[in-house]
Amino acid sequence: MRVVILPTADDVAHYCAEQIIHQIQQKSNTVLGLATGSTPVASYQKLIQACSKKEVSFAKVSSFNLDEYIGLESTHPQSYRNFMNQELFNHIDIKFENTHVPDGLSPDFEKSCQAYESLILQKGGVDLQLLGIGENGHIGFNEPSSSLNSRTRVKTLSPQTVANNARFFKVGETQPQLAVTMGIGTIMDAKKVVLLATGSQKKQAVANLIEGSISAFSPASILQMHPKTMVIIDESAAELLALNDYYLHIEDVQIKLSKHKNV
Ligand code: F6R
Repeated sequence: MRVVILPTADDVAHYCAEQIIHQIQQKSNTVLGLATGSTPVASYQKLIQACSKKEVSFAKVSSFNLDEYIGLESTHPQSYRNFMNQELFNHIDIKFENTHVPDGLSPDFEKSCQAYESLILQKGGVDLQLLGIGENGHIGFNEPSSSLNSRTRVKTLSPQTVANNARFFKVGETQPQLAVTMGIGTIMDAKKVVLLATGSQKKQAVANLIEGSISAFSPASILQMHPKTMVIIDESAAELLALNDYYLHIEDVQIKLSKHKNV
């Protein structure tokens, strides 16, 4: 696991966008796994800027989002389909038909979840999976106690997740308690994983992810088993890391080595 600690949330967004742009430059038909929530928004803004300056093109890119609320129309302001359209897809040159978000209104979730998995495979699998992390350690909507081998399916949101996400819903508006989410096994199949966390409210989840035991109690901890995971965090999210200085030292050495290689 590579741990990149940067001074600010803006640095995290910049570094993350660089990783995604680099990935697309290496493989123009990259399959991206994408996340919603507050954390990736700043990275999406950087990608929009880069695309408008023609530094990157999403024309051949496909995307699969992690999750969707159950019961919301795709046009509902809080649906994750709508979020992705507003925050990214409407502003870049990706083909709308190449963007995929799980169906939160499926008449048969078993079937639609399997179809989502099959479509990912058909496209050759996810090349780069972007993740945020919940305060309770969830990735996607794989809440604590989720099977570490799980596939795309319906999950019941934890009271903590419902409370954390209440900020997006108007007072009196019905907030979904269920979601369809890629499973942890699905996420682990991605060739690369990039997880973002910013702010001190994430510091315990980040410490459990990087330095805790692998456990369904902290679903993100399974990423310790993934061969290519990069965790990009700001200093506030890194506050509880016992080996903070070591992670900074590794990145320092990497930078020196890459400069040396270029000489
Ligand atoms: C979103 C998702 C969630 C969020 C997590 C953090 O698609 O799958 O796991 O990444 O809840 O959310 P924010 O970034 O709002 O703190």
